[in-house]
Amino acid sequence: MGNLFRRATNHMPPISSKDIIVEIGSAKGPGGSTHFFADLAMRHNTVLHSIDIDDRTHVFRDIPGVIGYQQAGSEWAKNICPSLNKNIAVLYLDNYDYNYWVDTDSDIADNDGPVLQAALEAVRNQKNEYLQKHNFIMCNQDCVIEHLKQMIFLLPFMSKHSLVICDDTYLSNDCWAGKGAAVVPYLVINGYHIIETENIHGSSYGVMLTNAK
Ligand SMILES: C[S@@+](CC[C@H](N)C(=O)[O-])C[C@H]1O[C@@H](n2cnc3c(N)ncnc32)[C@H](O)[C@@H]1O
Repeated sequence: MGNLFRRATNHMPPISSKDIIVEIGSAKGPGGSTHFFADLAMRHNTVLHSIDIDDRTHVFRDIPGVIGYQQAGSEWAKNICPSLNKNIAVLYLDNYDYNYWVDTDSDIADNDGPVLQAALEAVRNQKNEYLQKHNFIMCNQDCVIEHLKQMIFLLPFMSKHSLVICDDTYLSNDCWAGKGAAVVPYLVINGYHIIETENIHGSSYGVMLTNAK
């Protein structure tokens, strides 16, 4: 989990009564993005719409100022968002996971180091979870496509002065990779520019964009 989302506070756009905050990919517990954005929303007299494909009733129900939805982000973006008659002032995209080891099907070998063994074990468990719970095979290209679909559906509803934060998104050989690999260029050709990046080697990455002039 990256921490760039916490820096949204430093770039908050003006919030009118029509503006909302949206995150796709909810926190698993206290200390995550849902608590942070719910608090930010309350301080700006608005609400947080939080969407997750998994059951997150504990965060949806227990945090004041959160309207929760259990569904895929692209479905919410396509079917629910247009019916709200709201604009999105802050959008946090941090859902379908992107994993460096996702294509590794090899067995864990005794001579693999403990860090590699743990990474392979974790991705294997996550692939099983996605397959069993949601009936899809986890793959990085589908992660990038899912995030791009969300952004394409949401772009018409973004406020004139808005922030988009993509977690797990980083430069590789001068091209964007990770969850927001397609979202970043899509936003740039639609008038957004990058205002912050986070690049903590080996752990977490993120990028923040705005369409403010
Ligand atoms: C990294 S976690 C989110 C962490 C959270 N944003 C935080 O910072 O505390 C990713 C979440 O995305 C959810 N997810 C996976 N695919 C999704 C999709 N297509 N639409 C919405 N949520 C999805 C998972 O269930 C998981 O809860």
